[in-house]
Amino acid sequence: MFKCSGCGHEEAKWLGRCPECGEWNTLIETAASQAADRGGSERFGAAGRLLPQSLPLSAVNPREGGRVSSGIGELDRVLGGGIMKRSAVLVGGEPGIGKSTLLLQAAAAAETKGRILYISGEESAGQVRLRADRLGLAGSSVEKIEMVCTGSLEEIETILNAVKPTLILVDSAQTLFSADAGSTPGTINQMKYCVFELIAWVKEHDAALFLVAHVTKEGLIAGPKALEHMVDTVLYFEQNDKAAGLSGTQEYRFLRAAKNRFGSVDEIGIFTMGERGLQTVEDTSLLFLVRREGELPAGVATAAVLEGTRTILVEIQALTIPAKGAVSRVFSDKIDSARVSRVAAALEKHLGLRLSDQDLYVNVAGGIRITEVGVELALAGALYSARTGLALPADVVIAGELSLTGEIRPVRRLAARIKTARNLGFTGFLGPAPEAAESAAAASVPELKIARDIKSAVKLVYNKER
Ligand code: TYD
Ligand code: MG
Repeated sequence: MFKCSGCGHEEAKWLGRCPECGEWNTLIETAASQAADRGGSERFGAAGRLLPQSLPLSAVNPREGGRVSSGIGELDRVLGGGIMKRSAVLVGGEPGIGKSTLLLQAAAAAETKGRILYISGEESAGQVRLRADRLGLAGSSVEKIEMVCTGSLEEIETILNAVKPTLILVDSAQTLFSADAGSTPGTINQMKYCVFELIAWVKEHDAALFLVAHVTKEGLIAGPKALEHMVDTVLYFEQNDKAAGLSGTQEYRFLRAAKNRFGSVDEIGIFTMGERGLQTVEDTSLLFLVRREGELPAGVATAAVLEGTRTILVEIQALTIPAKGAVSRVFSDKIDSARVSRVAAALEKHLGLRLSDQDLYVNVAGGIRITEVGVELALAGALYSARTGLALPADVVIAGELSLTGEIRPVRRLAARIKTARNLGFTGFLGPAPEAAESAAAASVPELKIARDIKSAVKLVYNKER
């Protein structure tokens, strides 16, 4: 074993220069047992670094991968229950969405023990301090934050080894560079090299790492995409359209996991940006409904969908107009167009409702993207209503999966959806047959309409044969 007399870094073979601290001729041969003492701590690294050592699974300390709260409920939710020790989290999003704000708030609120290092390559220390003041972060919460403005990996590593932080925030990955990376500063390779080294440091020192990565409006995303496979968790911050008529008039910012080694990617975190930074929005059940008096217009259906562990009610809007071209087109960016086409095809086939000569427009009020399969029956309702001009009853909430055969298939957590609808004062619910365990919730709805297939659903809703 060779140990660097400068930084204590260990190598399996002798090297002229320590890859950790960059010093020359500092590697000195030492007994291998020293390294073995630290058994179980994985080594990530370039060729020549220590190989990982195995140890009995039963001997692994389960607390090694423990979580701590970020102090921000919605962030914890998306992370899968808090910040995982030894993990690297990428926070991507367009400029101005709130990435720096989120990181600074998390730095102040995180329940980590030990010091926190905020590395800014974009803003000056003064700017960060001003932001902290503006956010009302004061006293002990900011005292534990150490800050440095640099993008130089070598400088950062020196500081890391001196401060030994348990939480490291880097704003942003795109500002990192290293003399050792061999290519021109500012290239993807430079960034990847630096991020790789930071992740290695974090894994070895039981810390956690947050990295900001910008996504440009033009989209893709050379930066973050190149880092996605290196980190454990990838979160994207996005914004809804500023839709008028929502029950709130605010804009919402959604934090979604695109990848999560330590949790589900179904959860979203919902925030608003206010005077004092990002505020979490916990009661979201009503956020995406449009307030209306009286009847619904044609083409509108209310869906109960799952977003991770919560149920939200959303308004699905559809519009059909005779196709302008030879082929009909689907315009839908909040619900997958393929899903819209499939539901439209099922309606055409099983109800004889002509949609294939129509252009189909589908939107979700509030601009939230819906990927959950339970939205299909409500989508079918909106399309049917749009095409026929028959408005759906205003007091009915819809959930269900629509199969190509026209059957309505059960959905997960039907009882929770029904409960949410009830709590918000809806008296009707249209969906698949509840299971035995869900019968109590089902019984709470004055007008429960159980539909086996799309035909019977139409009959139940409109009280007529078709
Ligand atoms: P920022 O976190 O700098 O975004 P990013 O790092 O993703 O580029 O903040 C984005 C916007 O939020 C910025 O335009 C200012 C605004 N903002 C507030 O409205 N209130 C606040 O308390 C703060 C700190 C920022
Ligand atoms: Mg920023």
